[in-house]
Amino acid sequence: MPLPILTERLALRPYDPDDVAQIHTVLYGDPAAMRLLGGPLDVHGARAAVERYIAQLRREGYSFAPVIERETGLIAGEAGLYPFAGGGPDVELGYALGPAFWGRGYATEAGRALLAEAFGPLGVDRVVAVTREENTGSRHVLAKLGFIPAGRRHAWGFEQLYFVRERRRDDAPAATI
Ligand SMILES: CC(C)(COP(=O)(O)OP(=O)(O)OC[C@H]1O[C@@H](n2cnc3c(N)ncnc32)[C@H](O)[C@@H]1OP(=O)(O)O)[C@@H](O)C(=O)NCCC(=O)NCCS
Repeated sequence: MPLPILTERLALRPYDPDDVAQIHTVLYGDPAAMRLLGGPLDVHGARAAVERYIAQLRREGYSFAPVIERETGLIAGEAGLYPFAGGGPDVELGYALGPAFWGRGYATEAGRALLAEAFGPLGVDRVVAVTREENTGSRHVLAKLGFIPAGRRHAWGFEQLYFVRERRRDDAPAATI
């Protein structure tokens, strides 16, 4: 997953340890943003997450990344690809934004770009996702990205709805090296 990924309004770049304070303020420390993700984390929890994502990118070549609003340069949240429920083998799409950035189509825009990375450079044939049933916004995002409901899974500490997005003919062709 070559970074940065640029979309019309967003940029995804590798996490840097210096991002911890900003991503904590925008996302991890925000009770509304974290309501369905296990509740807010303190700054140590945010640092641990950022360190995990940096290590994951180094090890596997894909991970979560901060989502930058290009117009302002602000970190709006994060999005990325990760081994499903932390263990794989499927690749999971995830996204989470601070409340100030909701409702503008950013999660869908980032998700679309990440699917292109998964089906292109990463060369996978399917991407999975989970969301809590009550997360209406996330279910809308997954529907817009073409994910199909495929039952329920216990993942990341919760019983969640499970979705699959198979590669389609109109997706980016896998990179051939
Ligand atoms: C879920 C989340 C990522 C959506 O991000 P977003 O950038 O606002 O999403 P988009 O604007 O691309 O699309 C959201 C869609 O859901 C709808 N929606 C959002 N919240 C909703 C709600 N509470 N009830 C009903 N619909 C809702 C929007 O109207 C929009 O639908 P539309 O495209 O049909 O108009 C964002 O709310 C978020 O980060 N929440 C906190 C973290 C989180 O829950 N992450 C997902 C974990 S699975």
